[in-house]
Amino acid sequence: MASLFYYLEYEMIKTAVVGATGYSGLELIRILLTHPQVKLTVITSRSQPGIAISEIFPALKNRTNLITESLIPAAIAEKADIVFTALPHGASMDVVNSLVEQNMKVIDLSADFRFRDQKVYTEWYGEHKAPLLLDKAVYGLPELNRAEIKSATLVGNPGCYPTSAILPLLPLLKEKVIDDKTVVINSASGVTGAGRSASTGNIFCEVNESFKPYKVGEHRHTPEIEEALKSSSGSEIKVTFTPHLAPMNRGILSTVTANLKEGMSTSKILNILKGFYEHEPFVRICPEGVYPDTSDVRGSNYCDIGVKVDERTGRVVIMSALDNLVKGAAGQAVQNMNLMSGLGEDAGLRHIPISI
Ligand SMILES: NC(=O)c1ccc[n+]([C@@H]2O[C@H](COP(=O)([O-])OP(=O)(O)OC[C@H]3O[C@@H](n4cnc5c(N)ncnc54)[C@H](OP(=O)(O)O)[C@@H]3O)[C@@H](O)[C@H]2O)c1
Repeated sequence: MASLFYYLEYEMIKTAVVGATGYSGLELIRILLTHPQVKLTVITSRSQPGIAISEIFPALKNRTNLITESLIPAAIAEKADIVFTALPHGASMDVVNSLVEQNMKVIDLSADFRFRDQKVYTEWYGEHKAPLLLDKAVYGLPELNRAEIKSATLVGNPGCYPTSAILPLLPLLKEKVIDDKTVVINSASGVTGAGRSASTGNIFCEVNESFKPYKVGEHRHTPEIEEALKSSSGSEIKVTFTPHLAPMNRGILSTVTANLKEGMSTSKILNILKGFYEHEPFVRICPEGVYPDTSDVRGSNYCDIGVKVDERTGRVVIMSALDNLVKGAAGQAVQNMNLMSGLGEDAGLRHIPISI
């Protein structure tokens, strides 16, 4: 029996979460603690080191004795094989650089390693302090880049809005059925999308009973969406992206419209999507007349997609729903870890959504 335990322990992949006190950090911990082939060995916090994580998040009581540690890359490398960095953009790049120098595999949840083109990063986010790593990093959208992710040592995990916009568009661009100059994306996100640090715009009275657009025409996820669409369609694409803040904790609902190149029925577009995503474990296509709902994916790694062709205007309307903290962040990061580690892609991610 002892040798069986030794064997199981030996086979476990050792993981670390940097930025464990944030929303994505907590979601990573929630998923990793129940992942059958993973052991979570290190969690770090800059502002609250040396505290039981179950004290910071009582939801974790009796599920882990892990204590937050200060962020020391060499110490993390001693105890873990793969590290998830869940820090704000700008703060991540130096940390990731040090972790890569320790020969660790890294999955970064910030925007710091999502762009191939350093100029684009600089234009939208500011100076990049580890530009040499940009060529090494793989954009971690499995439905787009599965083969590259499998052999990657550094993955730039996609943003939540981009995941919700790219997944519905990919098949239609690949099949060249839409005019790529006419893509308009309207998305609404729950408030956890803005992270856990307090800001006036995110307090209860500002968000409750309210629904509003923000960063219109200038949201930083715009170039990320455009770069991923360009890599799949081969041509330069500019999109109009309008995010909205919705009075809910989690979830993103995106409604994407584009002109069809020629008349097509809803069922024909649905068949394209079904064919494209037939073997994908986390993309579910809604039947005709059924549209995605954030409550049908909450707490899960699913992205649900529905379609309606507006025959009157010749436009297709494609809608997607996902949980910004799961398929939009921590779940997708674990999906990438599974691919990088040769595990089943859905290992530890088979959660049924919490629909009510
Ligand atoms: N929230 C989402 O839905 C979502 C979705 C996709 C991607 N992301 C991305 O994931 C990353 C984390 O997002 P989040 O929403 O989890 O943010 P968050 O709730 O604000 O948490 C950020 C974490 O980073 C630590 N931190 C903050 N500033 C730091 C610094 N200068 N140096 C080191 N650590 C610092 C924080 O606490 P300590 O000071 O205790 O370490 C905290 O643990 C961001 O880059 C975000 O854009 C978020």
